[in-house]
Amino acid sequence: MRMAAILDRVAGLGSDKWRVHFRARQLMARGEAVILLTIGEPDQPTPAELIDATHRALLAGRTGYSNGRGEPAVLKALAAKYSARSGRTIGSDQFIWVPGTQSALFLLLMALIETGDEVLVADPCYATYHGLVRATGATSVPVALRERRDFRLDADDLARAVTPATRAIFLNSPHNPTGAVLSRADVRAIGELARAHDLWIISDEVYESLVFQGPGGGRFASPFDEAHLAERTVVASSLSKSHAAPGFRAGWCLGSAAFITRLLPLAETMLFGAQPFIADMAAQALSHDFEITAQMRDSYARRARHVAEALAGVPGLRVHPPQAGMFVMLSVGDLGLDGEAFALRLLDEERVALMPGGAFGEAASHMVRLSLTVPDADLAAGCTRIASLARRLAAA
Ligand SMILES: Cc1ncc(COP(=O)(O)O)c(C=O)c1O
Repeated sequence: MRMAAILDRVAGLGSDKWRVHFRARQLMARGEAVILLTIGEPDQPTPAELIDATHRALLAGRTGYSNGRGEPAVLKALAAKYSARSGRTIGSDQFIWVPGTQSALFLLLMALIETGDEVLVADPCYATYHGLVRATGATSVPVALRERRDFRLDADDLARAVTPATRAIFLNSPHNPTGAVLSRADVRAIGELARAHDLWIISDEVYESLVFQGPGGGRFASPFDEAHLAERTVVASSLSKSHAAPGFRAGWCLGSAAFITRLLPLAETMLFGAQPFIADMAAQALSHDFEITAQMRDSYARRARHVAEALAGVPGLRVHPPQAGMFVMLSVGDLGLDGEAFALRLLDEERVALMPGGAFGEAASHMVRLSLTVPDADLAAGCTRIASLARRLAAA
């Protein structure tokens, strides 16, 4: 029987990228000890206060239907967060509460992009972005990130990729996989380009809270916080990374009130509202700073420094220190093989699993991505084994 073309457009996306990870899992299932540095799932439990809040909400019977936009308390908490961040008054009517950043992005793309359009996407980028764009029928146009700009997306590079079909720029700062953080000047330059060509800016801000402090860190900047860009900016974010709560699927879309009002029927068509007990937990999560956020941020920063120190001077390896997030990129191309071949040999010979950079885009095919979401001892052992393989390859 015939199926809709959307299934063809997204077919085959994903599984290849996870080849090394799945192979590592198979080895682990056979009882082998593998240091898994592939996925970026917080290594801390969700705060007990938030588990309690969810439990209380469940016991209080907060298990019925919600409305399509979201529970008033969580929308109010979001309005307060973004009003404080932007210095403008942001209303509850500028949000739709959804299950995580991923579904927020899906909704936003479906609402703004369609067949024939082009979307400018950083290369490398988070592994789901091409699927999101393809689902709409549009084409994603990769714009390579440059090492000499510490992988911060460059407005001039974007400008060269603009065509009459361009409809949007996909931003992700802090960036997965490189940990780059756009400066305010970067954001403004990209904003000027968006204004000149009347483009939407789709801003994935899921790593907002994980910008490292002090030397080597960045400073978070969003196009939404620039008053003159706010009308053309839509934001997707969640509590997945900030509160070590990815399984709660607690996220939101943010935009102008006019756009969000237009978006509401699409969200209702897809979701018919989200869970009130999760919204209650999230209202509490957003009501004050949680220690865990700073703890995770600081431990990822410390682990990133450890990786840089442990691998400094190893022949053929180059560490790209991140400014934020939970990953470090390593260039391995000087060892004479690409990221995938390096990752496969590392798994086979050293029992350490990394993500091949090519999973995130052609421009990173000479790299591997290492996750910082493991205990310090595992990370240290992982680095020792990465260095061993690099030394053997360099000597050969
Ligand atoms: C850049 C980026 N966007 C979105 C997501 C998905 O986030 P969520 O759990 O909120 O759907 C991730 C998860 O790793 C991510 O790295």
